[in-house]
Amino acid sequence: MNEALKNILTRRSVRRFENRPISRENLAQIAEAAIQAPSAMNRQLNQYTIVTDPAKIAKLAAAMGKELGRADYDLYKPAALILCTAPRESKFGREDCACAMENIFLAAHALGIGSVWINQLMNLCDAPGIREVLTELKVPADHLGWGTAALGYGPQESLGASKRTDAIVWAD
Ligand SMILES: Cc1cc2nc3c(=O)[nH]c(=O)nc-3n(C[C@H](O)[C@H](O)[C@H](O)COP(=O)(O)O)c2cc1C
Repeated sequence: MNEALKNILTRRSVRRFENRPISRENLAQIAEAAIQAPSAMNRQLNQYTIVTDPAKIAKLAAAMGKELGRADYDLYKPAALILCTAPRESKFGREDCACAMENIFLAAHALGIGSVWINQLMNLCDAPGIREVLTELKVPADHLGWGTAALGYGPQESLGASKRTDAIVWAD
């Protein structure tokens, strides 16, 4: 099978990560895939904030956990996070980030790195305790977090979790 298609068909979310860093080179390749994603009117308004310091990841997780009322919240303890954010006034920030997120997941998978989308920041990024941490992480103050990619080495969830083939409708 075509390698790119095989990569798409074999990607699955990973939610348990080894305590093993991802090389800067690999993270740069994944980030490059993000910036190559399509964006509405090619405005390229997203920022991709890469966080690898375990203390910074833990600090963000703790701030989110506090808002969520979940003391054990750990963002799955990934080796890295990529925060996909866009200016608040960007009409298509959510869509632009979604395209970039899938590129991130596919690039990571092609490099043997697992990933999963974490959604919670979307609703929490304006909570004061979280905005403070985002600012420390160099996320612009006017940006909304539309998607967070957690990345690391770990077991993929089963390909057996089947996809809905009836979602494909040929109207010829
Ligand atoms: C918009 C969106 C939000 C998601 N949010 C979360 C999340 O907060 N936590 C999580 O563990 N997985 C999250 N996921 C991952 C989905 O649960 C996962 O993609 C789905 O179960 C299909 O599994 P697969 O990725 O292995 O194909 C999200 C996926 C999308 C597209």
